[in-house]
Amino acid sequence: MMDTLVRLRASLRKNGWWRTLTLIPRNILFQLTDFDRKHGTNTGFQAEDDAGLPREHEGYEGAPPRLFHRIIRSLDIAPEHYAFIDLGSGKGKALLLAAHHPFRRIIGVEYNPRLDAIAAENARIYRHPERRMHAIETIRDDAGAFDLPPGDLLIYLFNPFKAAIMERVLANLERALQAEPLDVLIVYQNPTQRRLLDQAPFLERIAYREYRTKRFRKMPIGRVAIYRNRR
Ligand SMILES: C[S@@+](CC[C@H](N)C(=O)[O-])C[C@H]1O[C@@H](n2cnc3c(N)ncnc32)[C@H](O)[C@@H]1O
Repeated sequence: MMDTLVRLRASLRKNGWWRTLTLIPRNILFQLTDFDRKHGTNTGFQAEDDAGLPREHEGYEGAPPRLFHRIIRSLDIAPEHYAFIDLGSGKGKALLLAAHHPFRRIIGVEYNPRLDAIAAENARIYRHPERRMHAIETIRDDAGAFDLPPGDLLIYLFNPFKAAIMERVLANLERALQAEPLDVLIVYQNPTQRRLLDQAPFLERIAYREYRTKRFRKMPIGRVAIYRNRR
């Protein structure tokens, strides 16, 4: 309450009465829908999240919940057959959302130790009536060096890194596919390096979609490329 009053006074000083009044509905909507406010988690972007970011890495941004669930539902798979692996899992937002689906395992791999520690804490405190999976494994590692676990995989990539690391990830995946017969699905959101996946002879692209908001003038909210291994 105090917090709200302080912010109201600051807005009145900065924006005046009229502008403050027009901002109130937007602020109420934000407070009601903000993920971290609702769940007590820490998944939002803070400037220090990208401090010392290596050149081949992309910065932190948490997965958008509605879009994430739309994408997972569109796959039309039995989640219990797949281990969900988020390469570049940041503060674990996609892992929390994946826990609404009954995957065989949920694993996040994050290079930045600070973000990885926050992800582990978020996994501990996240309570949502639709959370079905309690076990979320968070691993501090370079995605390009990570040994994929056995069994069928759903690999989730939310624009985590540039070409050099993507090449190492694809080389690891190709080795894993040679070692055992696997079903692999790759969901690549904001797929800036999709040329590399399009060219990988062991993958086939099964969809490329642009998602838009259902309301609010159908604004673009994300692009997703989906791949599976050739059998
Ligand atoms: C756009 S964020 C996505 C976060 C998370 N996947 C989600 O959807 O909520 C990309 C993350 O990839 C991480 N990352 C970048 N390069 C990496 C690497 N080589 N190994 C592991 N993580 C990496 C970044 O630190 C960042 O947290």
